[in-house]
Amino acid sequence: MKYSRIKGTGSYLPEKVLTNADLEKMIDTTDQWIRDRTGIERRHIVGEGETTCDLAEMASRRAIEAAGINVEDIDLVIIATTTPDRVFPSTACLLQERLGIRKGAAFDIQAVCTGFVYALDIADKFIRTGSAKTALVVGADALSRILDWSDRTTCVLFGDGAGAVVLSGSDEPGILSSHLHADGRYKDLLTVPAGISQGYDQVQSQSAFIHMNGREVFKKAVNTLGQLVDETLEANQMEKSDIDWLIPHQANIRIITATAKKLKMPMERVVVTVQEHGNTSAASIPLALDVAVRDGRVKRGETLLLEAFGGGFTWGSALVKY
Ligand code: ACO
Repeated sequence: MKYSRIKGTGSYLPEKVLTNADLEKMIDTTDQWIRDRTGIERRHIVGEGETTCDLAEMASRRAIEAAGINVEDIDLVIIATTTPDRVFPSTACLLQERLGIRKGAAFDIQAVCTGFVYALDIADKFIRTGSAKTALVVGADALSRILDWSDRTTCVLFGDGAGAVVLSGSDEPGILSSHLHADGRYKDLLTVPAGISQGYDQVQSQSAFIHMNGREVFKKAVNTLGQLVDETLEANQMEKSDIDWLIPHQANIRIITATAKKLKMPMERVVVTVQEHGNTSAASIPLALDVAVRDGRVKRGETLLLEAFGGGFTWGSALVKY
């Protein structure tokens, strides 16, 4: 098969909703400040005992149903997540078992907010090289678990959720190109500076929460995403006007607007869910895609530009014929 194509999409949000008004009662913030600086109005948060794999399972079942395939057809499972259920096995293995998938590889990808774009690119390469026929690619995160709920500079920004796509081989164009990048020199600007190899004490300490230099992340994200858009169009010899939909990582409405402006894209052609979901990290792009597919905005044959920027720093894009 020459290409891989998105056959179906699905998503899932936990039931519990946390509004800006709720946050006003918890920390020194206002609905107005959060809306003005980020565009976020509410976010979904996992309930007691609810995990990343629970969210991924619901989103995957919906994507499999939308694709009209049987789970036996799936021979690759990749989950992009920063909040795995266990140190090991991978969340992808846990999901594989729950869905009754019995063949092929299953593994997690960790590229924070860019994770889904990384996972999509890897799955595309597995399919185009003949190593897999049908892939389940998931972005799922429960970032609320790694937030310091007393830190107003971070806890207002994030939410939990999952999005999934089924990717299959096709002779028709699907994923046209992907462009992945990373620069570890920025590791300290956006980080959870604790991990299991530093010992359990670290993981139980204050450092095991998201730390971020918001202003620097913002500046770097806007500049980098502008260059990424140029790189993606150039690689495909396309014009800005060839893009039907921009489906960006949903971190902040001001970052999204700046990228749309760079593309000369009217906001009606940009899928925006940040007001409802907050920043759901690896889940945000497949969540936004699924919302726009299900409400009828994104149609078969249209050209989509997916792009993301996140911790690492990592950044990446995918140009997709849906
Ligand atoms: N409520 C009220 N006031 C707040 C809050 C809050 N929740 N958080 C910070 N403030 C205050 C600050 O203390 C500061 O007060 P001061 O002027 O008295 O010191 C003031 O608001 C301005 O703070 P800044 O950090 O300068 O505000 P800024 O305009 O940069 O907005 C924000 C902050 C929203 C975090 C912005 O920098 C941003 O969006 N950065 C990108 C971060 C991001 O999206 N990260 C997600 C991961 S990466 C990615 O996905 C792209």
